[in-house]
Amino acid sequence: MLTPHRNLVSELTLELAHLGLSAPDLGSAMQPVLDMLVTRTAAVGSGYFQWRDHTLTFAARAGSGVMPEGPVMAALLAHGLPTTLPLMDALRGATGVVFVEDTRLEPATAGFPELGVLALLAAPINARDGSLVGALLGHVFTPYRWTVEERALVSHVTSVLALLAARLDAEERERSAQEGAMRALGLCLEARDAETQGHTDRVTALALSLGRRLGLPEGEQRGLRWGAYLHDIGKIGIPDEILRHPGRLTPPMWARMQAHVEDGVHLARQLPFLPGTTLDVIACHHERWDGQGYPAGRAGEDIPLPARIFAVCDVFDALTHARPYKPAWSLSDTLAEIRAGSGSHFDPRVVEALLDEVDRGLTGG
Ligand code: C2E
Ligand code: SIN
Ligand code: SIN
Ligand code: FE
Ligand code: FE
Repeated sequence: MLTPHRNLVSELTLELAHLGLSAPDLGSAMQPVLDMLVTRTAAVGSGYFQWRDHTLTFAARAGSGVMPEGPVMAALLAHGLPTTLPLMDALRGATGVVFVEDTRLEPATAGFPELGVLALLAAPINARDGSLVGALLGHVFTPYRWTVEERALVSHVTSVLALLAARLDAEERERSAQEGAMRALGLCLEARDAETQGHTDRVTALALSLGRRLGLPEGEQRGLRWGAYLHDIGKIGIPDEILRHPGRLTPPMWARMQAHVEDGVHLARQLPFLPGTTLDVIACHHERWDGQGYPAGRAGEDIPLPARIFAVCDVFDALTHARPYKPAWSLSDTLAEIRAGSGSHFDPRVVEALLDEVDRGLTGG
C-alpha cells in the first residue's frame, strides 16, 4: 500500500517540478498543480492567489475545476483576496497545509461558508524570506474529511511548489523592475524631446492594441512595448537648438535629426538584454512602406511588422498633439493624412487596424 503511493507522490512531484521549471510564469507553473488537486483529491475546484504589492491583495492567478459563484466570488476574482481575510492570517502562522473539514466551524475560514465552500484545503506559498507570497486553495461544496492520502499528497507537492514559487516570484519582480526602468527611460526621453506629456504611454498603448489586432505573437509584445519606450533614444545626443527648433529644420539640422535612428541603434546595442523586436522598432521606425524612408530605405514586408505598426502610431500621436514645430491637428485631419499615406508611407493593413481601433474607441464598442 505505502510503496505504490509513495511512487505516485514522487512521480507527480517530479512531473510538477519539471512543468514548473519550464513554465514562463507563475500562473502557468501552478496550472498543472491545480488540475492535479481537482483530479486526485476530493476538491472540485482549486485556485492560486498571489500577493500583489500594487493592490495589497492576493490576486487570482490561475484556477481549475468548478468555482463558487455569485457576486462575492466575482468580487474576489476581480479584486483578489483581501489581506485581512482571517484565512491569510492563519496561513501566515501555518507550518504546512491547512485542511478544514467544515468551514462553518472554524474562525480561520470565516467568509467561506457564504461562498458555499464548506471544506477547504489551503497551502501557504512562502518567499525565501518566509513572507507569504501566495495561497493555493482547493474547495468542496459539502463538509469533507480529508483523507491521510490526500493530506500526504498535497503536503508533498506544495512543499516543492513553495520552492518553485519563490524562484518564479523573484523572476517576476526582476522582470517588473526591468519594465519599470525601460518605461522610466522612455519618460525621460519624452521630457527632453518637449513632446507632449503622455506621448510614450499613449503610443505604447496604441501600438499594443494594433499588435493584438494584427496577431502579433505574444512573445513580441514586450519587445514592441520596449521599442515604443525607446524608439527615439537616439535623440539624446541631439542639441536642444535642433530638437526644440520652432520652425522647419534647415537641411544640416534635418541631416543631424535623421541620424537619431542610427545613434539609437548604437545606444540600444549597449543593452544586451533588449529583445530583437525592440532593436527592430528603433532601427526601422522611420522606414516607409514604399522604400522612401530612412535610414536604410527598406520597403514592404522587409520592414519588421512591429516597426510598421509603431510607425503609424508614432505619426498618429505626433499629428494629434502639438510639437515645437507644429500645432496639434484635429482627429479628422490626422486620419485623412494617415489614410493618404496608406500604401506609400504606411502598410495598408496597419492603417486599417488603426482606423478600426479609433472607430472602436470613438463608439466605445
Ligand atoms: P516627431 O515629432 O516625433 O514626429 C514623428 C513623425 O511624425 C515624423 O517623422 C513624421 O513622419 C510625422 N509628422 C510629424 N509632423 C508631421 C506633419 O506636420 N505632417 C506630416 N505629414 N507628418 C508629420 P520624421 O518626419 O521622420 O521626423 C522625425 C523627427 O524629426 C520628428 O519626430 C521631430 O523630432 C523632428 N522633426 C521633423 N520635422 C521637423 C521640423 O519641421 N521642425 C523640427 N523642429 N523638428 C522636426
Ligand atoms: C475562494 O473560495 O475564494 C476560492 C476557493 C478556491 O479557489 O479554491
Ligand atoms: C519633415 O519636416 O520632413 C516631416 C514633418 C513635416 O512634414 O512637417
Ligand atoms: Fe524618431
Ligand atoms: Fe515619437
